[in-house]
Order: sequence, then C-alpha cells, then structure tokens
Amino acid sequence: MDELRIRGGHRLQGTVSVSGAKNAALPIMAATLAIPGRTVLHNFPRLRDTNSMIQLLTQFGVAVEFLDDHTIALEPGEAATCRADYELVRTMRASICVLGPLLASQGEACVSLPGGCNIGHRPIDLHLKGLSALGAEIVIDQGYIHASARELRGAEIYLGGLQGSTVTGTCNVMSAAVLAQGRTIIQAAACEPEVVDLGNFLNACGARISGLGTSTLTIDGVRELHAAEYTIIPDRIEAATWMMAAGITSGDLTIEGVREDHLAAVIETLRTAGLKIELQNETARVQRAGDLQPLDVVALPFPGFPTDLQAQLTAMMCLASGTSVVTDRIFPDRFLHAAELLRMGAKIRRESSGVIIEGVNELSGACVMASDLRASAALVLAGLAARGETVISRIYHLDRGYEDLAGKLSRLDAEVERQKGGGPNPPHFASSPTPSASKAPPKG
Ligand code: EPU
Repeated sequence: MDELRIRGGHRLQGTVSVSGAKNAALPIMAATLAIPGRTVLHNFPRLRDTNSMIQLLTQFGVAVEFLDDHTIALEPGEAATCRADYELVRTMRASICVLGPLLASQGEACVSLPGGCNIGHRPIDLHLKGLSALGAEIVIDQGYIHASARELRGAEIYLGGLQGSTVTGTCNVMSAAVLAQGRTIIQAAACEPEVVDLGNFLNACGARISGLGTSTLTIDGVRELHAAEYTIIPDRIEAATWMMAAGITSGDLTIEGVREDHLAAVIETLRTAGLKIELQNETARVQRAGDLQPLDVVALPFPGFPTDLQAQLTAMMCLASGTSVVTDRIFPDRFLHAAELLRMGAKIRRESSGVIIEGVNELSGACVMASDLRASAALVLAGLAARGETVISRIYHLDRGYEDLAGKLSRLDAEVERQKGGGPNPPHFASSPTPSASKAPPKG
C-alpha cells in the first residue's frame, strides 16, 4: 500500500492545471454504452476510478483507446455480459452509473448493490424508483439489482430524497430517459455541474434534454443517439482543493481550469476565510491575506458548498484564528478525517452532523490513515502546513480522484515523496484497457 510523505511548512507557489472532472467523466463514460459509434472525450482525467470504469465498460464490450494522454475514444460493441460484479462495484460506487445506459441499450442490466461506504449511509432507492417509473422491472436478489424493460416510457418522476436530490441517480434516470418513448419530466433533479455536463454530452449525441442546471429536467426521448466529440469540464473539487492548499500554506498559486460558475459558494466562503482570489479567463490566482478567519459552513447540494470539499475545509479551519463550525447535510457522518486530524494536534469535536473546530497555532506531522478520497485530501492539506513529517497511508484513495497529486505538489515546491508499500497497487495507467482490478475497498 503506497504512502505519501510530506515535510510540511513550505509555501506552495507556481502554476497548476486542474484535470477533468472525475464525477462528470464517470457517468459520461457509462453513457457511451448506449451510444453507437466512436465517442471521443477530451480532458479525460487519468484516475483510478476512470480506470475502473474502463475495466467495467470493456467487460460490456466497449472498445477503449487512448488517442493521447487525456483523450479517449469509446465505442460499444457486442456485449458479452450485462452484469457488473460486486468485485468491481465495491471498489467504485459510481459503477452504478451503468444501470440506466445498459437498461436503455440492452433492455436489461444486472448490477451489484454497492454495500457499505466510509462516508456514511448511501442508499440507491431513488435510482430504482426513477427507473421503475420509466417502466423497468426491478428485482433485488442475492446482492444484485436485476433490471429489465421491453421498452422504456417517459414519465413524471420526483427524485427528491431526505437529503435533497441524487447526483448519480439523476444521471442514471436521465441516461435511460433519453431513449424512452415520449416525454420524461424529472422533478427535484440534481443541479450539480457534473449532471449538467452529462446532459450537455447527451445532447451533443442527439438527446433532447432541457432544463439542465435547474431542478426540473424535460427529456423528449429519441430513437437513437449518435457518437460525438466532447470536452469534459475541469474538476471543481480539485480546483478548490488547490485554493485551500494556497490558503493553508500561505502560498501563492495560479490555478488553471477554474470555472467560476461552478465554484461561487466556494469562492465566497474562501474569501470570507481570508483568501485573496483573483479570477480571469478560467484561471485563479490565490493568496492568503492575513490570518485564516473562522467560518460557519454547511455542505449542501449545488449551488451550496459541496460535501466533497467539507473535509478539506475542516483541515484548513484547524489553523483559523477562532472557532469554526462545519456541518454536512448531505453525508452527516462524513467525518472520519476528524480523528486523524486530532492526531496532528487539531482541536475538533464531533457534534450531530458536523464538527466544531477550535483553531490552533500549528499542526504537527504524524502518521495518519486516509479513509476516503476527500478525507485523504484533507490530510494532505494538513500535512503541507504541519511542522515536521506527515506520513499518509492508504493513499490509493487519493489516486481515485486526484491525478498525479504528488507530481503536481512537487512542482509547486512542496516536499513530498510517494513511497511504495505492501497492499493495493498504485493505479495502472495503461494506454490500453488491460488493468487488473484492485482488491482494495475504496468507496465514494
Ligand atoms: N440518497 C438517497 N437515495 C438515493 C441516492 C442518494 O437517499 O437513492 C441520499 C444519499 O444518502 C445522500 C444524498 O442523497 O445523503 C446525496 O447522494 P447522491 O446520490 O447525490 O450521491 P452520489 O450520487 O452517490 C455523488 C458523487 C459524490 C458526492 C455526492 C454528493 C459521483 C460519482 N459521486 O455521489 O462524490 O459526494 O454526489 O455531491 O458523482 C467524491 O467524489 O468523493 C464523492 C463521494
């Protein structure tokens, strides 16, 4: 199991480019199952998760070819199976995104239920409710979802749940509804930029979706989609993680690939925390202006502050001059990073669906363990600012969502070293889709 060693205390400086958005790339890749012809995706992020999706699509007969480092071509062929096995689904929950496209293209799908997750309770009842409304028959048997439909029919679907809407649930239902007969109206659809990106991609392939970015989607089914060339949006979570890296190290970073419209709540929050953020042409220059100010922040669905940045913000607030409150309304138990931050000298108390953080003057390096993707990013941020050495184990979690993080950090004057250890291998960034599945249980 690889680990990351960070000698903290260096101010990060320089220019960094944000990679393509993981959570847009995954459902877009899955959607190609139902798109005849050769689709070409630009700004494709090279991650463990996108690699897992390549494995899954390959099983379903999709031919995958890298045209260059960040451009991939996907073309569906004869599917040998419609079954997504537990072994793969448990390593990546987003495997569930194949359910809608498979159902629409093959008339059937068998996908393992994902099981438990380190960031809290994550049911998929809304995905199933939406697909049932389109006419799918769904049976849960021996840990698998068996979905079948002779034809999908448009329907009015309310996709809201107790915690708001569902991102991958909206993606699944939208990917199936584009090929259903007639009109589908999804109420309480997720408005996240990644859902919009999937919708824009599907429209580029001939779908007729309107209302993207709002909570009501109107989808007029078409008989067939066609392949297209498409550029994936930059990853807003990576962009904001770099902003916080500048903030926590008192650095000066120029970040390329920042979509202001995707990050309004984050930029506002970070400015309140004392970061100076100048924006121009999708590039942000981020510096710290004085002490870090404490915050009271609630993670909410888009356009609110994202849950995928809650852990990183918690880490940054450990060094604020005062007491902060960080609450997560989407995943109220997503706080495993708090216990690890305590080991670095942070003062954090768990309270209901959040944490109360008393700012300290400094953090000290320690051996800590990554529990999920964003928790790992939080530990990296803390390590960059801490006195002495921080050793983060289980960094395969980071590989799931941050492309070449150690390399990017080194080029920004951080002192980091990735070391090989036992256990799961680092991602296999093959230029052809032949990687072997990891036995590690990263979820997210
Ligand atoms: N929920 C239900 N029923 C459902 C689906 C969701 O009650 O059928 C609840 C969840 O328990 C949660 C809330 O609704 O409380 C939102 O969950 P959502 O379905 O939106 O999450 P997701 O689609 O499984 C995506 C991202 C996550 C991100 C969340 C929230 C992908 C591949 N994953 O997950 O990303 O945290 O939306 O924005 O898009 C990450 O990148 O680290 C990550 C975990």
